[in-house]
Amino acid sequence: MRFDPWNPEFVAHPYDVYDELRRERPVSFFEPTGQWLIARHADVNALLRDRRLGRSYLHVATHQEFGKPGDLEFQDPFWRVIRAGMLDVEPPVHTRLRRLVSKAFTPRMVEALRPKVARIAGELVDAFVERGGGDLISEVAEPLPVTVIAEMLGVPEADRHLLRPWSADICGMYELNPSIEAQHTAVRAAEEFSDYLIGLARSRRANPGDDLISALALVAEEGDKLTEEELVGTCVLLLNAGHEATVNVTGNGWWSLFRNPAELDRLRADHGLLSTAVEEMMRWDTPLQMFERWVLEDISVGGFDIPRGTEVALLFGSANRDPEVFADPDRLDVGRVDNPHISFGAGIHFCLGAPLARIELIESFGALLRRAPKLELAAEPVWGSGYVIRGLESIQVRV
Ligand code: HEM
Repeated sequence: MRFDPWNPEFVAHPYDVYDELRRERPVSFFEPTGQWLIARHADVNALLRDRRLGRSYLHVATHQEFGKPGDLEFQDPFWRVIRAGMLDVEPPVHTRLRRLVSKAFTPRMVEALRPKVARIAGELVDAFVERGGGDLISEVAEPLPVTVIAEMLGVPEADRHLLRPWSADICGMYELNPSIEAQHTAVRAAEEFSDYLIGLARSRRANPGDDLISALALVAEEGDKLTEEELVGTCVLLLNAGHEATVNVTGNGWWSLFRNPAELDRLRADHGLLSTAVEEMMRWDTPLQMFERWVLEDISVGGFDIPRGTEVALLFGSANRDPEVFADPDRLDVGRVDNPHISFGAGIHFCLGAPLARIELIESFGALLRRAPKLELAAEPVWGSGYVIRGLESIQVRV
C-alpha cells in the first residue's frame, strides 16, 4: 500500500506506510496534493516551531504571489469566520487573540472545572451503563466535550444539539481536496453558526453572564482588542477544536485498548495509570493525523530544498511512531513515561485546550473503567471517512 488518504484501507491502518516513509522517504513530494510529506518526529517537531513557516501566508503575501487561484467567491463566508480565529492567523494578530482567551485555559482555571467535568462524565456514563451499553461515540465521547465547551462559552442547553453538526460540517473543509458538495456544506454551516453566535454575543453584551461569550462580548465592546468577526471566529474555533479531537481520542482510545487486552487489564487493575494511558492512546492512534504549513521562506529539510510558496504536510501519526524517539513505538504501553508525542502540536499554535482535553479524557475513561469494569466490544467498529481528523464513526460496546 502507498500513502493514500482517500483509501479507507489506508485510513484504517496507515502505520505500515508511515514506517516505510520514515525509513526510505522521510521527506517526499506527494503529487496529488502538491505537498511535501514530512514523516519523521524530529522534522515535524522542528517545522512546527520554525517561523519561516505559517498556517497562513496571507499576512506576508497575496494568493497570486503564492501562485494560488484565490478563494472561490462562494467560500467567502467560511473563510471570513475561519480566518478570524487564532488558529488561522500568525503574529501579531495571533498573539493578541491567543492572549485574550488563554486566561480562561490556564491549568489552574481548567483544574477548577474538574468537578464539573467529572459530574458530566459520571452522569453520561451512568445512563450508558443503565442501558447496558450502546455506541460509545454518540452516547459518551461526543456529548462530554460538547457539553463542557458549551457550558464554558455559555451556549444555552436548548441550542447545544446544533453545535456538533455545524462543527462536523465545517471540519469537512479540512480534509484533503474536499468535494464541492462538502465545501458548500461547510460554507452553509459557517454562515448559520456565525449568525447564531452574533445573536448570542449581542444578547450577552446587553445581559452579561458568567461565561466566556459574555467576557469576549464585553472586550469587543471596548473597541480595539477584538472585533465582532474575531469574536465569532474565536467561538467557532473553540467549539470545533474543543471537541472534535477529544471525541476521536475517546473512540480510538477504547478501540486501541480492546485490541491490546493485556494493556486494558493492566489499566483496569491500576487506575493510577490513567494519565499515562491517555497520553499513550493519543500517541498510538493519533486523532489528528496531519497538519499543514505554508513555507514562507525557502527551507531545506532532510537534504531537500523546499521553496517559498510550497505546502508541507506534517504527518503527526507517523511522528508519533518514530523509533528514534519512542522505544518500541508500535507497542501500546499504558504506563509509558517518556512520551513526547506531538498530538497537541508544538510552537505558537500548540493546543490551547490541552489541559482541558486531558481532564476530559481522564474523567471519561476513569468513569467507564469504574462503572463498567467489564466493558467489551459488541461489534467491529467503523472508521469515519476523514483522514486528517481521523476517528471511528461508531463503536458498539456492552457493559
Ligand atoms: C485530545 C484533544 C485535542 C487534541 C488532540 C488537540 C490538538 C490540537 C493541535 C494539534 C493543535 C495545533 C494545530 C496546528 O498547529 O496546526 C490545536 C490547536 C488548538 N486547540 Fe486543540 N486539541 C484537543 C483538544 C482541544 C480542546 C478541548 C480545546 C478547547 C477547549 C482546544 C482548543 C484549541 C485551540 C484554541 C487551538 C488553536 C491554538 C492556536 O492557534 O494558538 N483543543 N489543538
